[in-house]
Amino acid sequence: MAERPPLRHLTSINDLTNAEIERLFERADRYLADLGDPAIPHRIGTSTATAHGRILASLFYEPSTRTRLSFESAMIRLGGQNISSADPATSSVAKGETLADTVRVASNYADVIVLRHPRDGAARLAAEYASVPIVNGGDGAHEHPTQTLCDLFTLRRENKQLRNLNVAVSGDLRGSRTIHSFVYALARFGANIMLMPAKGMGLPAHVTARLEEEFGARAVAREKYAKANASVDALYVTPDRPHQLSLSVGVEPDVDVKLRKEIDVVYVTRFQKERWAEASADYPKIDAKFLKQRKYSATSVLHPLPRVGELDVSLDGDRRAVYFRQAAFGVPVRMALIDLLLDPEHGLARYDGGFAEAPRPLYAQAIGIRCANPNCITHDPLERHYVGNKFWALPSAGAAQRLRCVYCEADTEAAIVANGRRREFAALAPGAPAATTPTTVFFASAADALAAGFTERAPAQKRARTGSRTKVAHSP
Ligand code: NCD
Repeated sequence: MAERPPLRHLTSINDLTNAEIERLFERADRYLADLGDPAIPHRIGTSTATAHGRILASLFYEPSTRTRLSFESAMIRLGGQNISSADPATSSVAKGETLADTVRVASNYADVIVLRHPRDGAARLAAEYASVPIVNGGDGAHEHPTQTLCDLFTLRRENKQLRNLNVAVSGDLRGSRTIHSFVYALARFGANIMLMPAKGMGLPAHVTARLEEEFGARAVAREKYAKANASVDALYVTPDRPHQLSLSVGVEPDVDVKLRKEIDVVYVTRFQKERWAEASADYPKIDAKFLKQRKYSATSVLHPLPRVGELDVSLDGDRRAVYFRQAAFGVPVRMALIDLLLDPEHGLARYDGGFAEAPRPLYAQAIGIRCANPNCITHDPLERHYVGNKFWALPSAGAAQRLRCVYCEADTEAAIVANGRRREFAALAPGAPAATTPTTVFFASAADALAAGFTERAPAQKRARTGSRTKVAHSP
């Protein structure tokens, strides 16, 4: 059998390096230049034969208009063809088929699979079972990396350099997967992020933690920020050590630049009603009145769409509104992505890994702590034979071990460490790094460990007095 290069998937924006993103945009620029509609510059008007004979499968378990249609249009513009399963009610999922089985089967029918799924981390699960590249077309509230590629490409076409750009993100920052991929990319390229959440809908704690710990962002206190931007209720996050190459060349960040008043981009999102039981009260609305302030005079207004009232239609004719162009760029950007994923000579498969993360120990046990995110794919009863409790063990402060789910990337804290062979547990000591050996088992609480049939390890002194033969006095 011929040897295949390692598969590249796009499950998170962090699967791509900054250099790869730039390379992809150069290709998208070329498609617009070569195949663009002369009358409408952001529209692809003709086709090529680059992907002749290749097949893209869309597996959509959630509604979609732009993502699916632009992927399928992109594939046709490249000379390839599409097969599509867009309604879970008419596919085998209605008979109880697992995602793991579906992607193994679909891998034989197509050369690349685009997946949209309501569960966080579904794309990562699919990537574990697929034998062709998986592209995440949105997985629950986790990420939507190809939307971020469209967003960044739109800013590039607007001549907005990302370094030191002031980008305000507004709306449901908790549940919008587009926001999560977008803020990682902004931080990586050195943009400043102002958070304008609807009440109670701020960024998830693990996203903020990653922005600060991995992508060099630094939260600036609200009071300090308020001096420069009195009317924006925002937390200011600014990277002081942007990672890798930047799309822009700009000046080194300094406080004056960081606190300048102008908002270069306003990124609006809708309330994700399908993800939350509660209704949205006081949802921020972006309209002509909001944008009247001087600091918005040169802003670009982006929205991944669909909009449902939070972005006023009266802005559609405004020179600052770029959201329909942003949606149009879905075609050249996704053409470039398909091309890079399918092209074995010049594609992504030739590059090593994704975005460089510090190596971390992997913790995986069938028993013990489970991901704290109830919408994680690991909690889908259908997939229980295909997903494990798999976490990256993160450096932790205090007496808890932070664990990042390999699938949905949410963080979970363990207070208890146990030895799976001796079936004994102990509370984690403050500041003590938990060694993850093959016998290490973490639990969220002592009650969970007891419920799993583990017994509390006697303190070392007591064991010595009672003549216990157990000599191990350090953490299990
Ligand atoms: C987004 C999504 O599905 O997350 N839509 C899209 O792909 N453009 C945004 C949304 O639904 O709010």
